[in-house]
Amino acid sequence: MEMNSPIGTTPLDRARDGIVGKPLDRVDGRLKVTGGAKYAYEVAQAPEALYGYVVQATIGKGRITAIDKTAAEAAPGVVLVLTHENAPEQARNRRAHPVLNSPDIAYYGQPVALVVARSFEEARAGAYLVRVSYEEASGSYTLKGGLGQARVPSAGYSSPESAVGDFAGVFPKAPVKLDVTYTTPLETHAMMEPHATLAVWDGDSLTLHTSNQMLDQGRAAVARTLRMPVGKVRLISRFIGGGFGAKLSVQADAILAAIAARHLHHPVKVALTREQIFNVTTHRSDTIQRLRLGTDETGRILAIGHDAYSGNLRTESQFEAAADQTRTLYAGANRLTRNRLVPLDAPIASAMRAPGEAVGLLALECAMDELAYRLDIDPIELRIRNEPAEDPEKHIPFSSRHLVECYRAGAERFGWNKRQPRPGQVRQDQWLIGIGMAAATRGNVLVPSSASVRMGPDGIAIVKMAMTDIGTGSYTILTQIASELLGVPPDRVRMELGDTAYPEAAGSGGSFGAASSGSALYVACERLRAVFADRAGLDTDKAEFRDGMIVLGGKAVVLASLVGASGIEVRGEIRPGDMSRKYSQQSYGAQFAEVAVDGDTGEVRLRRMLGVFTAGRILNEKTARSQAIGGMVFGVGAALEEAVVLDPRFGAYYVNHNLADYLVPVHADLPHVDAVFLPELDDRTNPLKAKGVGELGICGAGAAVANAIYNACGARIRDFPITLDKVMSALPAQA
Ligand code: MOS
Repeated sequence: MEMNSPIGTTPLDRARDGIVGKPLDRVDGRLKVTGGAKYAYEVAQAPEALYGYVVQATIGKGRITAIDKTAAEAAPGVVLVLTHENAPEQARNRRAHPVLNSPDIAYYGQPVALVVARSFEEARAGAYLVRVSYEEASGSYTLKGGLGQARVPSAGYSSPESAVGDFAGVFPKAPVKLDVTYTTPLETHAMMEPHATLAVWDGDSLTLHTSNQMLDQGRAAVARTLRMPVGKVRLISRFIGGGFGAKLSVQADAILAAIAARHLHHPVKVALTREQIFNVTTHRSDTIQRLRLGTDETGRILAIGHDAYSGNLRTESQFEAAADQTRTLYAGANRLTRNRLVPLDAPIASAMRAPGEAVGLLALECAMDELAYRLDIDPIELRIRNEPAEDPEKHIPFSSRHLVECYRAGAERFGWNKRQPRPGQVRQDQWLIGIGMAAATRGNVLVPSSASVRMGPDGIAIVKMAMTDIGTGSYTILTQIASELLGVPPDRVRMELGDTAYPEAAGSGGSFGAASSGSALYVACERLRAVFADRAGLDTDKAEFRDGMIVLGGKAVVLASLVGASGIEVRGEIRPGDMSRKYSQQSYGAQFAEVAVDGDTGEVRLRRMLGVFTAGRILNEKTARSQAIGGMVFGVGAALEEAVVLDPRFGAYYVNHNLADYLVPVHADLPHVDAVFLPELDDRTNPLKAKGVGELGICGAGAAVANAIYNACGARIRDFPITLDKVMSALPAQA
């Protein structure tokens, strides 16, 4: 099925008390809490796997002049030391990088050797004995230092720039002008499960038990890298302990495990330590963002401009698309957005947790707050005045947009009417109290996906697809969809995910996973319903599916009796179509935060937070809410804590490369965070009428916190994260 026209009434609309949307507990919950869910590194293998440990470059740029591996090779348990001198040649491609293919060092921490031993400990001990000599070259390591080299990147998942009307002519003449620059730091995904792979060869076929969000893309990338037919590569990721973008691409653990296992004719496991992840894998670039907003006296935007700079390893083209949401969020006739990329000699930047919007909205939504104070207009009112009637750049309708409803519902629930319009008005002991808000928006996409459904004579429905569950709840929501459409209880559905041996599926990324894989399953289930109706001699459109039966009028037929001795299997497929070109598609929300700022030390305490969202049909109230809250927690981290500290001498993301020093919010930082979804169905997005949820929660969340800090104490910090030293030095004297 191709999504070329709006979806009419579907069985999901008719099933008012159906299971889709209900807060069903995770179907894999028991496996996870009992340790029964095996993650990549835990998969047992016979013969028992050998262990690889990565040796990293200790210079930022230059070349290897010599590697002495004598001591390592003689160390207990060591069976192989792989370097660029004995590693096979690999092919470069977009989703994986050759490893150990050159003496050149492109960035600090680049893998320069893999030591394989009988145990992890022996491999690590051997790794310390590898002696690498370098010839150092000078590199460019900081975004700020490299701004002079900024270039227009090639289009990636978004286009680098957009222009509508005459920004340059109108902005300077606008009656009210705001021209501010915000900066956001380097960030790491900080998912729980580190990158890990077990590689097993069977003849010329390779199986990788790995931790990867996008298995089909990953399989293609591994095949290209190792110059193998794609059909000879299988990726398995049944359970994934978080990804957040870190596992969109295939990382060095997988490639190294594969080449070492081939070399040794023996299974090999490679895991990256938390410290290694910071430099060996990807991260989110820091950004420098200039926002220009020109309005009339009533706050109506006349000109809006967003320039966003990010950095990446000089051979990479991916940029942090921080200017993108500024193309659709607010009205205004004259517009200019530009994403620029600075080539660096630093580790590879890539997608992380709402790439683009997460940091773009920190800048845009704080700038809107600044504008509201400048104009003395309520921040919600300012946003409502600039609510566009259609996509302001593409001049096409929105598929659905209930952002104003989110503002209003959120304001009501949060008690926005208690907000003091000027900072520094509410004091409790040494604490200054403030509230702030921000808009949330995240692009919605549908990606090709397919699924198979089979019912056997036992009446159990078996669903297969190469979809992943990165902790988001894919197993559960897909079970709900199959259960509802086939009219069988959830415990009669077996969901088999995480294996490229199954039909190709969307994978988990860009908030498209649930809707894309769920739509493929929807199509497959519709096919199966039609087969059942046909065999039962009933009208598909009128029949009901419940309690394992197809029912119409006085007739009820048990489904299992219709499948024959060998069962029935059907496939379904969804592809994006005209709807994504004819309609501007986003999920929306309004974020609210209350903070207390210590008037003496600048310490910020979050007191409570609320997000009110619309994302089309919600497939599971509980998992959606959990994701929204998780995203909001990211937002709090981005606002107050998260930052990779760079050693500018050699571009090492090294100074705080652990989860003790790279701070993310903990429970004590989050007293009360709540998320609510308003009812919405979007019949232009996909057959489920759903939109993306995964990354929506982070969008705008950090800006709401930052805006609350300003409302509390009058400190406007434009450099994230907002740590107490910055607040203290910005506290107005009267605070
Ligand atoms: Mo996401 S940053 O597409 O996992």
